[in-house]
Amino acid sequence: MTKIISLFNNKGGVGKTTLLWNLADSIARNNKRVLMIDFDPQCNLSLAVLGTNVFTETLPTLNASYGTTIRAYLQRFIQNTKGFEFFSHQGKNTHQDAELVAGDFWLNVYAESLSVGSDLLTGIGVVKYIVLRDMLSFANQEAERKGQKLYDYALVDLPPSFGALVRAALYSSDYFIVPCTSDLYSAYCVGLIGEMLPGFFEDWKSGFTRFKRANPQLSKYDNIGSPKFAGWVFNGFDTRNQDFVTVDKTHHDKIANSVSQRLVPKLKDSICMNLPTSYKIGQIEDMNVLVQNSIWHNVPVSQLGNFRPLKTLQDRGSWTIDQLEQIERLGRQFDEIAKQIISNCI
Ligand SMILES: Nc1ncnc2c1ncn2[C@@H]1O[C@H](COP(=O)(O)OP(=O)(O)OP(=O)(O)O)[C@@H](O)[C@H]1O
Ligand SMILES: [Mg+2]
Repeated sequence: MTKIISLFNNKGGVGKTTLLWNLADSIARNNKRVLMIDFDPQCNLSLAVLGTNVFTETLPTLNASYGTTIRAYLQRFIQNTKGFEFFSHQGKNTHQDAELVAGDFWLNVYAESLSVGSDLLTGIGVVKYIVLRDMLSFANQEAERKGQKLYDYALVDLPPSFGALVRAALYSSDYFIVPCTSDLYSAYCVGLIGEMLPGFFEDWKSGFTRFKRANPQLSKYDNIGSPKFAGWVFNGFDTRNQDFVTVDKTHHDKIANSVSQRLVPKLKDSICMNLPTSYKIGQIEDMNVLVQNSIWHNVPVSQLGNFRPLKTLQDRGSWTIDQLEQIERLGRQFDEIAKQIISNCI
């Protein structure tokens, strides 16, 4: 069964999208089949993986009103029309076993169509909240029909909010991971996640209980709605010292403390087994100019050594020895997190 994992933090700019792409690529390099789902109307993931030109071709036009984005499945699902279609895309430099479901600005329309009061709590529209799960089943049926391997993981990229898209992704997910950056707000934001998620999970339970009363024979959604916390990632720390510099150490410890004091106790049993005692599943150093090269070239960071740096981003046409070492090191950092996910999210 495909494990659905949301990368979530209501704090913006913490590296959710960057991590998701690089982790999907690393998981695929560990012989797994991965689907990256761009569930953020900003579509940053799609732009990074496909590049602007290819991504633009996936969008709906007058002649192709659904396009080949996530909308092609979602819109038919929520409008209850026939002829479901599922499209995934390959980035030309991302591992071929890490495919993308392209995002769409239309996700804003989908989000506005969801109502906690009249869809979720009444139980009448709970299925509208688990469309990703349904899309995954459909994608796996298609894979089976074509004699392909089923998806091992689906990683969901989210906007920074506690809004409808986040609820819908979490209700569909088996696990969630919280990327955090080294700054003063991160520890506070982790606490907010601890405040909000138990309420989300309760809302699902009440809505689903009502739904079940009306649909007792339907069992495929029985054990969902409370994804397990699968750890946090410390992203973007400085590497001037062998160990953390003082400010990063301070932020790191504050976040770790907030995770264990203000998040984990609130989640009760919705915690992934086998996590490290700090709940941290890995860390990614500050990638500096490498990350911009990666996005411009549409190349995951671990593969940048095979490409030349862009003249528009730095004044030389080849990587320095230090940069080549950093690319290797980052590859290992992503691979370590990928391996944690593979061994923990089972
Ligand atoms: N480890 C890192 N080192 C340096 N820059 C980074 C690192 N991780 C991410 N970035 C940069 O930080 C910015 C924010 O990253 P990203 O878009 O992945 O965050 P996000 O959490 O997805 O943002 P949003 O909340 O808007 O979706 C981007 O410009 C990205 O290139
Ligand atoms: Mg993002």
